[in-house]
Amino acid sequence: MNIENYTSYAALSKAVAEAMIAAIKNKKDALICVATGNTPIGAYQQFVLDVQATGLDISKVRFVGLDEWLNLAPENIGTCYQFLHNYLFNPLQIPQHQYKLFNGLAKDMKAECSAMNEYLDLEGPIDLLLLGIGMNGHLGFNEPGTPWHYRSHAINLSETTQVVGQQYFNAPMELKKGITLGPADLVRSKKILLMANGIHKQTIVKRLLEEEPGIDLPASLLKNLNHVHLMTDLTV
Ligand code: F6R
Repeated sequence: MNIENYTSYAALSKAVAEAMIAAIKNKKDALICVATGNTPIGAYQQFVLDVQATGLDISKVRFVGLDEWLNLAPENIGTCYQFLHNYLFNPLQIPQHQYKLFNGLAKDMKAECSAMNEYLDLEGPIDLLLLGIGMNGHLGFNEPGTPWHYRSHAINLSETTQVVGQQYFNAPMELKKGITLGPADLVRSKKILLMANGIHKQTIVKRLLEEEPGIDLPASLLKNLNHVHLMTDLTV
């Protein structure tokens, strides 16, 4: 894991947006996996501005969503569906055939996971994976304890994730379950950017840097990989 320090959230966001653009310049139909949450907002805003300013051709780019809350209608403000539409797909008018997202309302979760795995088998591997880190070290919704050979799966969310997740909604929500790409597909990505910003992430980033890799700290999966960049505005 390479550590890249940035002096501000704006600088970090700019660097992530530049990496997105570089991936697309390198491969017109790059497959980019996009996390949601507070961390990547600046990067997506910068990416949208850069694409609009330069006219970069993104008509072949493919986006895949990292995860989704289960049992919430997509129009809920805090869903990954809604987030990605607000920050990326709507501003850039990206049509539906260019993105693949989990359906958090799917009746058959096994089938939903198989469909995502088939998509990745056909369209993958991911060229650029953008990740945030959870307060408990989760990646996507790969919570502590998730075996690293798992592919897409539905999961009971940890207490921490259920509580922290409330911030994305404008009313209290039941956030008991999620669906996520699994560790096995994450590590197969060609380039991985793990973003960590804000002082509230200091403790988990310190754990990531100090602890031996193990499934209790999902982000530690990335520790021994050369194609991972920890991008942070924290002093680490
Ligand atoms: C969201 C996701 C989560 C977040 C993580 C950090 O799609 O996959 O793993 O990246 O919970 O969230 P923020 O960025 O809000 O601190």
